[in-house]
Amino acid sequence: MKNKLNKLRAEFLEQLAQAKNSEHLRELELKFLSRKGQLSELMGGLKDLSADLKKEAGELANNVKQELQEKFLEMSQTLNLRVSKNSETDVTLPGNKLAQGHLNPITLVQSELEDIFLSLGFMILDGPELESDYYNFTALNVPPTHPARDMQDTFYVDYKNKDGQYDLLMRTQTSPVQIRAMQKYGAPLKALIPGRCFRNEATDARHEHTFYQVEGLLVGKDISFSNLKSFLEIVGQRLFGPNTKLRMRPKFFPFVEPGNNGEYTCFLCQGKGCRVCKNTGWLEIVGAGLVHPDVLRAGGIDPEVYSGLAFGFGLNRLAMLKYNINDVRLFNSGDLKFLEQF
Ligand code: DAH
Repeated sequence: MKNKLNKLRAEFLEQLAQAKNSEHLRELELKFLSRKGQLSELMGGLKDLSADLKKEAGELANNVKQELQEKFLEMSQTLNLRVSKNSETDVTLPGNKLAQGHLNPITLVQSELEDIFLSLGFMILDGPELESDYYNFTALNVPPTHPARDMQDTFYVDYKNKDGQYDLLMRTQTSPVQIRAMQKYGAPLKALIPGRCFRNEATDARHEHTFYQVEGLLVGKDISFSNLKSFLEIVGQRLFGPNTKLRMRPKFFPFVEPGNNGEYTCFLCQGKGCRVCKNTGWLEIVGAGLVHPDVLRAGGIDPEVYSGLAFGFGLNRLAMLKYNINDVRLFNSGDLKFLEQF
């Protein structure tokens, strides 16, 4: 009996070592370990032995049975792992890294401004990039012969309107959406308008034919210059920190009266003077003013009842200051070495 058991054990282990797949395993299990397998058959003979022999052989039989079952289990685990390695879902391989996109720094600065103005109750509006001469200039107090047109040469579309005039152009500023917003929503009104603008520029590190602005318009009753001042102060402090001061200097913009340039404490040197602020301690950031009565009228709003304030940020400039970017052309370059830094 003992010999038979040992022989069976050796035979099983030899065949198990040669098993290549789960079918082989199943055959082995059937042949040796199942209820009608060779091991059961041998153990069935135990009852015919004398008490002494039965004890000894019984012990051996149990040990062999346990050993063979363990070895069998081990082998089936090894084979399973090999099978999963050959299949498409090998959980042991390192994963594939997915390429991650990057937001353009203009988008980052734009979102920051949108958050600030949304929290002040503004709506965010959009307007057409292909604009009419009327909305881009005339309605904003810049009639066809006005010298202010020289500063904003742009790309005209080769298409004449029914009066035989070239009427369509790529907008030079987001200001025309002021008129569209007033016509659509009337007063009172609080709108922030980010968007892409175009000018006929010879490009260099500081000039670009395609760039971004954000326009702000607030129309209500009794809107005064002191409202404009405190409003721009709040915006500056939200953008550049609580110690930021505002300085307003007169500047002509045809669609506001009075018009001014808003300058903020240079956030790089805290106003002490550095290369970026050209040692003045101030950064020119925003054009602003009280909406000209003619502009309110063009928007269908009665300037005797309502007044308004308006302002415009250059987004490229803001992003250049914030991220220390020294060439405006990088924004539109699509250069991954540049974009991946944000
Ligand atoms: N549209 C002006 C520009 O492109 C910027 C600007 C100045 C917008 C003053 C305004 C404003 O709304 O009040 O230079």
